[in-house]
Amino acid sequence: MLIKEGKKLRTTSRGRDPKLAPNGCRHSSKLAGERESWVPRGVSSYHSFTAESGSNALVKDVDGRSYIDFAGGIGALNVGHCHPRVVEAVRRQAQQLLHMAFPVAGYCAYAKVCRRLCEAAPGSFPKKAALFNSGAEAVENAVKVARSHTRRPGIVSFDMSFHGRTYLAVGLTGKHKPYRQKFGPFPGELYRIPYPYAYRPPDGVRAEDLTRYCLGRLENLFSTSIGPDQIAAIIIEPVLGEGGFVVPPADFIPSLRRVCDKHGILLIADEVQTGFGRTGKMFAIEHSGAAPDVLVVAKSLAAGLPLSGIVGRAEVLDSVEAGGLGGTYGGNPVACAAAMAVFDILEEERLIERASRIGKKIERRFDALVRSCPTVGESRGLGAMRALELVEDRKTKEPLPESDMKAILSDCAREGLLIIRAGQHGNVLRCLVPLTIPFDQLERGLDILEAVLRDRKP
Ligand SMILES: Cc1ncc(COP(=O)(O)O)c(C=O)c1O
Repeated sequence: MLIKEGKKLRTTSRGRDPKLAPNGCRHSSKLAGERESWVPRGVSSYHSFTAESGSNALVKDVDGRSYIDFAGGIGALNVGHCHPRVVEAVRRQAQQLLHMAFPVAGYCAYAKVCRRLCEAAPGSFPKKAALFNSGAEAVENAVKVARSHTRRPGIVSFDMSFHGRTYLAVGLTGKHKPYRQKFGPFPGELYRIPYPYAYRPPDGVRAEDLTRYCLGRLENLFSTSIGPDQIAAIIIEPVLGEGGFVVPPADFIPSLRRVCDKHGILLIADEVQTGFGRTGKMFAIEHSGAAPDVLVVAKSLAAGLPLSGIVGRAEVLDSVEAGGLGGTYGGNPVACAAAMAVFDILEEERLIERASRIGKKIERRFDALVRSCPTVGESRGLGAMRALELVEDRKTKEPLPESDMKAILSDCAREGLLIIRAGQHGNVLRCLVPLTIPFDQLERGLDILEAVLRDRKP
């Protein structure tokens, strides 16, 4: 095992323990060959090793190497890998009822998860929830209920957003490469406006004017492309996920809420990546004080099992006729059992408070890197959703090239840290550690990252 208590960190491959197999050694390379033969390259991975097992914040590969996991299944593992309570809930449910298909007959776990979601989501109005399989599928259904309720066609999303890879979800997504490239045409009546990104504001716009600027672009959309009375919903990530952990100004979401209320437009919060305590609140939109009409959840809802959902105003979700929502697997009983365990763990282990503590520890270390490491352009985030934007040059903010980013990721992995990137230019290191990570492992992971960034040749 590479990571050991008290073991001195190595920051170059030269000092590597010869007994430790590097990535790409016998087992991993054999599996990599299989993968290359049978899996298309569109289905890619950030890292080349082959994972074998996971336990809380550690992942082990088939060659016996361990990694501290700062990727957390891209935000699906807020309660860590294989939490014993999740595993036990899954085992029990699997013995009792593996699959039913909700369209055939209901089962307890489905309604229980919906109830927990309704109780957890912000907004003091009657709510209902429905369950699906993936984040993208839940986004699609949020749009379906919004159109069905308002009887309007238009949906507004944001540049740099990510909502998934199915056609409607990718149509909403504001990043061309690789998500949209070569896939058009996309579904109609989808519109996009800029997301307020203070580190890279549009030319001539001051950071403090970003809310006004972006809402001005929305007003412009109303006058040039589609009247507000034809818009069903605006969908927003309260903190951009794939877009690079951009946090909007404090007044942005409340202002957007007011525009929605003025025109009868629904506000949809896509909390697929930000949900379940990640930002120090159950849902990130709670930081703004605004309540969305529909909230989209997935990822950490079921600790890695495929489960997603929409939760929101009862009259919006009830606007669809019987049979218009759902699917064969949506709200599978085993995934629902895992979700019930997740809700209990979040409460009993006080993980939402813990997210704030984790966030502060990471922020302190990341802010120090901004001061000491010329490659680090900005440290940002909310709660335990934190990122570093890396640049060639701090003045020009030229993004660090893809090849350097790839090298940083693989250097981190070689030293035993699993981390992934994000951002419009792919130059943002994002941190989605399990909220259950022991603090010594968190610090060791940060040590590795710091050493890799400091050792980089300019
Ligand atoms: C904000 C957001 N929405 C939607 C999705 C799509 O989720 P899935 O990959 O489960 O379809 C993601 C995935 O990363 C996401 O981050």
